[in-house]
Amino acid sequence: MSVVQISGLKKYFDAVHAVDGVDLSIQQGEFLVILGPSGCGKTTLMRMIAGLEKPTAGSIHIDGADVTELPPRKRGVSMVFQSYALYPHMNVYNNIAFPLKAQRREKKFDKATMRSKVENIARLLEIDELLDRRPRQLSGGQRQRVAIARAMVTQPAVLLLDEPLSNLDAKLRANARDELKDFQRSSNITAVFVTHDQIEAMGLGDRIVVMEKGKIQQIGTPQRIYDDPANEFVATFLGSPSMNILRAKGHRFGFRPEHFLPKTLQDNPENSVSFHYFVKRVEYLGSDRLVYGYVGGHENELTLAKVPSNIRVSLDIDSEYEFAVHYDDIKYFDEASGERVEAQVAGAAWR
Ligand SMILES: Nc1ncnc2c1ncn2[C@@H]1O[C@H](COP(=O)(O)OP(=O)(O)O)[C@@H](O)[C@H]1O
Ligand SMILES: [Mg+2]
Repeated sequence: MSVVQISGLKKYFDAVHAVDGVDLSIQQGEFLVILGPSGCGKTTLMRMIAGLEKPTAGSIHIDGADVTELPPRKRGVSMVFQSYALYPHMNVYNNIAFPLKAQRREKKFDKATMRSKVENIARLLEIDELLDRRPRQLSGGQRQRVAIARAMVTQPAVLLLDEPLSNLDAKLRANARDELKDFQRSSNITAVFVTHDQIEAMGLGDRIVVMEKGKIQQIGTPQRIYDDPANEFVATFLGSPSMNILRAKGHRFGFRPEHFLPKTLQDNPENSVSFHYFVKRVEYLGSDRLVYGYVGGHENELTLAKVPSNIRVSLDIDSEYEFAVHYDDIKYFDEASGERVEAQVAGAAWR
């Protein structure tokens, strides 16, 4: 069942088309990641779902009801922001209880019920030992969990998370990512998570929505987006280092550095394309060697290879080698639009 149904959604700030015609349905219990570069419209899209921004056009339905004109509190949606500001003068308990207090004033439930709601969510996020502390007495990861608890305590149908991990350092971030995923699975909440970080997106998302310039470029599982990109933008945005792109007559083609290997190492060399590869520089990254060079006929296009370090093949600077890529690992793009095209359409000579 789709919890959130977004149709033809637009937000224009004068000449800036922040969100430019988004159609999206979000399923019950799914972890949906919205991935795109800074400025592509991610926050604006989330703010419209939350009801904090009025759309220029389009509609939003939640659980079947049209909420496009409803205020935030009537939508059953909670949002955690990048700067998840907790109230510094309140302890953790009161920070989490804060959204319930408005409902308390409307006499929806008594004080004991409120306490049990706070304690239940705190237990779920494993911060129930911290309820008496002030925010400054917490680590970054603990604060982040308090912010999520505060967003969850009203039992929203949908939890919106706008780059909630970006203030954490790298190691804590990996941990927080794990915890968030576990928590989402066990609570079965529908989560929409925004990030510009492809690793985070690949690790968390049941599906990823790739956005650029206010428009959706592709929606799919992490594997689908990575292996079968819809266009050159998606192909080069995911992957580090990014896909090699080379110009050819009437099209461009690309292959990922990890698919570009010495021909002797390809397990299926008869189904691959060979290139003369001129090695200019090699970086040792521990588990891999990152090779910089170019292929014959493409002297001005830097081409990278990522060769696992445990493969004992020598790669010397200023030397030429025969490298190869599987047919299936070569992607073709229309010269004008950048859309994916089949090899035959591109007129690739080697097939
Ligand atoms: N309140 C606003 N007024 C004018 N322009 C805005 C406003 N909010 C966002 N924008 C513009 O809309 C575009 C998308 O912004 P945003 O949704 O914050 O992107 P992201 O979250 O992907 O970085 C940007 O060009 C940004 O400058
Ligand atoms: Mg943003």
